[in-house]
Amino acid sequence: MDITFDMFIETEVPEDEVIISRTDLKGIITYVNDTFARISGYAPEELIGKPHNILRHPDMPKSAFKDLWDTIKAEKTWEGYVKNMRKDRGYYWVYAVISGVYKEGKLVEYKSIRSPVPREKRIEMQYYYDELRMKEGEKVRAVSYLPQEVYEKLKERAEREEKSIERLIGDLL
Ligand SMILES: Cc1cc2nc3c(=O)[nH]c(=O)nc-3n(C[C@H](O)[C@H](O)[C@H](O)COP(=O)(O)O)c2cc1C
Repeated sequence: MDITFDMFIETEVPEDEVIISRTDLKGIITYVNDTFARISGYAPEELIGKPHNILRHPDMPKSAFKDLWDTIKAEKTWEGYVKNMRKDRGYYWVYAVISGVYKEGKLVEYKSIRSPVPREKRIEMQYYYDELRMKEGEKVRAVSYLPQEVYEKLKERAEREEKSIERLIGDLL
């Protein structure tokens, strides 16, 4: 995936609203509340019927979601910090509590109720997930300031060679 500047814009999650979604047993979104739609930057109808990984941020380690699914499939409640990607590629952090929805004692859906994450905790979790991804051999997040002219040169060359900047850097190393 190409990294772009818009990915560094954070949306603050309001303190006084709940963010709710429900999915079927496969993780396809069946319901979102208005706050969920607003924070994610999508219209509700763009989300319903889509897999919940539509919001997946590349900074999230795979193991977090494995743990989530192992837990909820065992009919237990999963709680954890999630960094999500908005439609405009910005991001927001939530603390999610995910559990089953039961009808006549039978598991029919999953629900997720989210709350804001204090700033200090977001920073801590970013480092923690960066480390996990590195340990798990996934993509590493590298953030660096480049002089404008260096960036422009890379961009021009990537365009000329019809590749992403990420790929170009990989080829140059
Ligand atoms: C009720 C529920 C809510 C979920 N909410 C999110 C979410 O907000 N963001 C997210 O990336 N994944 C969420 N997931 C997990 C996704 O289903 C998916 O496992 C994850 O995005 C990783 O994508 P992948 O399984 O395709 O690797 C949720 C799952 C369930 C059951």
